[in-house]
Amino acid sequence: MTEQAAQIQTDALAAIDAASHEAALEEARVKFLGKKSPLNALAAEMRNLPNEDKPKLGAALNMARQAISNALETSKQKLQDAADATSVEGLDVTMPPRELPSGSLHPLTIVKDRAIQILRRLGFALADGPEIETEFHCFDALNTPFDHPARNDSDTFYFDSGKLLRTHTSSVQVRTMEKQAPPIKIIAPGSAYRRDEIDATHLSVFNQLEGLYVDSDVRLSDLKGTLEFFYRAMFGDKTEVRFRPHFFPFTEPSFEIDVKLQVRGEEPKWIEVAGCGMVDPAVFSAINESRGDDAFDPSKLTGYAFGMGLDRLAMIQYGIRDIRLLIENDTRFLSQFA
Ligand code: DAH
Repeated sequence: MTEQAAQIQTDALAAIDAASHEAALEEARVKFLGKKSPLNALAAEMRNLPNEDKPKLGAALNMARQAISNALETSKQKLQDAADATSVEGLDVTMPPRELPSGSLHPLTIVKDRAIQILRRLGFALADGPEIETEFHCFDALNTPFDHPARNDSDTFYFDSGKLLRTHTSSVQVRTMEKQAPPIKIIAPGSAYRRDEIDATHLSVFNQLEGLYVDSDVRLSDLKGTLEFFYRAMFGDKTEVRFRPHFFPFTEPSFEIDVKLQVRGEEPKWIEVAGCGMVDPAVFSAINESRGDDAFDPSKLTGYAFGMGLDRLAMIQYGIRDIRLLIENDTRFLSQFA
């Protein structure tokens, strides 16, 4: 019977060796280790043996079982390794991966961040104010009389409450002076709204950056130096900057600023980029009245202010000819700034 066990073991190992796929291996396992296996049949006959022969057969049966299950395990592993090897055949693990699409900053954000960075170096702090404004903050406190064209229904978005969407970021000048004492040196980037006909250079929502500096001895030459520095940092050291007399209700004197720039493929020309001027004493008086004190005494303080279009800046910087591209979210356009 011990020889029988050895024979079964030999048969089993041959069957396992011949199994070329997993199903055949499973078949061999069921046949040689399952309930109806010849080893089990042999074990059932053990009780007919004399007691002294039982241990020998027991040992032979155990050995056979162990050998078969080891062989099954080894063969299974071999088949698995072979399958793994074919599945990665032709795979070049040194090949660079396909690039994942990644987002990028909007050109307006890039230009706004640069403008802020430059002005921070000159000591300006960031300030903010609401986009839904009162007429007082947007117009009255800025010396803009009731009959000024900017206040027309056809120019401004009014709410029934009498509030409006701010037509410029200059309202942040008022908001800041109401809460802070001089000296004040702030910039306020943000959206502004006008009932403009939409075309290649106009949107009804656009972006500005306002600046305000109020102290005891702020001069026009400070304004000029600051803005020249700014536009040269923005567009290059040699950029020419021109101050053209203009009128704004909240500054006196007032100027429009042009920079001479070469738009790609064109002759250099003067392009208007901002408005500015020395804060009108009437603005200080309106602030004092609103604060109920004399913190902005027009006889002791002077200041300058400026406001520039950020969309315009981005268009100049990148040679964008249609402002609508800035709001259309077309990734073919936006991905160029990645
Ligand atoms: N608020 C003006 C506009 O929207 C721009 C401007 C002009 C702002 C002169 C100023 C300034 O602060 O002093 O057209």
